[in-house]
Amino acid sequence: MKSILSRYMAKNRFTSALYYFIFDFQYHREQQATLAGKNTYQANEGVFEKSSALLRRNTHRLEKGLIMVPRKPIFAESYIFETVQCFSHCLQQGSINSPELKWAQDVLAKYFASVEHTSIIKQANIIFENLPLVDDKTLLQSVPYPHSERVTSNIDSQSLHQLFKQRRSTRWFEDKPVDIQKIKQAVEMAAQAPSACNRQPFQFYTFTDAKRASKIAAIPMGTKGFAENIQALLVVVGDLSAYPKERDRHVIYIDGGLVAMQLMLAFESLGLSTCPINWPDIELYEKQMDKALSLEKHQRPIMLMAVGYGKKEGGIPFSQKKDADQLIKEID
Ligand SMILES: Cc1cc2nc3c(=O)[nH]c(=O)nc-3n(C[C@H](O)[C@H](O)[C@H](O)COP(=O)(O)O)c2cc1C
Repeated sequence: MKSILSRYMAKNRFTSALYYFIFDFQYHREQQATLAGKNTYQANEGVFEKSSALLRRNTHRLEKGLIMVPRKPIFAESYIFETVQCFSHCLQQGSINSPELKWAQDVLAKYFASVEHTSIIKQANIIFENLPLVDDKTLLQSVPYPHSERVTSNIDSQSLHQLFKQRRSTRWFEDKPVDIQKIKQAVEMAAQAPSACNRQPFQFYTFTDAKRASKIAAIPMGTKGFAENIQALLVVVGDLSAYPKERDRHVIYIDGGLVAMQLMLAFESLGLSTCPINWPDIELYEKQMDKALSLEKHQRPIMLMAVGYGKKEGGIPFSQKKDADQLIKEID
């Protein structure tokens, strides 16, 4: 009956919405989380956990304007006031971390030194110039730089390919604790991942106590049979309060997925193995996880990651990979 109904109701958007309103509540949690995120963004101006999503986004936009070729003599007029005000609030609040403030300050200074001063830009500059400076001598200048000056690595593609092959989902771990310092090191490395407008809307809820790690890992369905021997666990949690608009509700999953991939490779390079674990959007599990991590409505688990020292004799599925011909669809 439900399948006939779903076929009929999928014919247009209105009946599809009706279907999910009356017969199936699967999307309700996502809708509530999106709305809660939007409200929290408005209430906190995107400030969450020592970071301002608005400041990060606007600073990023200014940097893009500064590197544009040809660079426009006037740009960002529509949001420069908002950016300076946001920077000023962040300075006053004292809750935002210094590297983020320094980045915004340096980019704003560069912006004002580079553009023509229309009346809006002039007013914004006056406010900016009267703000106190971020006083942290340990921080480097954080402004755009040429491609030739970027950090380069000496890893060749063969070594990188080997690392990709070395990383395999590992489900059997030695009974050996994972030091939080190693996790921090891997996270520092992974944090270099790209993210939409550089907002990095995620956190890693971390368990290094094997008992607790196993207990949390047992919440979703995909760990049956091996949850008990997980030594450390990270829950990647996305923050929907980084966005004022619904259109960006999927970004936490994209950014969270990209950083998780870097994190798995970082762990691998530090001698640790990992297993990504699916987070199914199921009411009961969501409630359990929300309670275990004390999550707010606008925070959503994205995935879990088991971490540990792989047992030498522990089995690894072959996991055949598709080849480039299957994966590339060439369009002329
Ligand atoms: C998003 C995601 C969710 C996954 N969930 C689980 C899971 O719940 N349980 C599990 O044993 N493996 C899980 N895996 C691991 C996959 O089974 C594994 O990546 C795939 O079979 C390919 O093997 P490889 O990682 O060794 O290359 C997951 C992987 C990803 C990327």
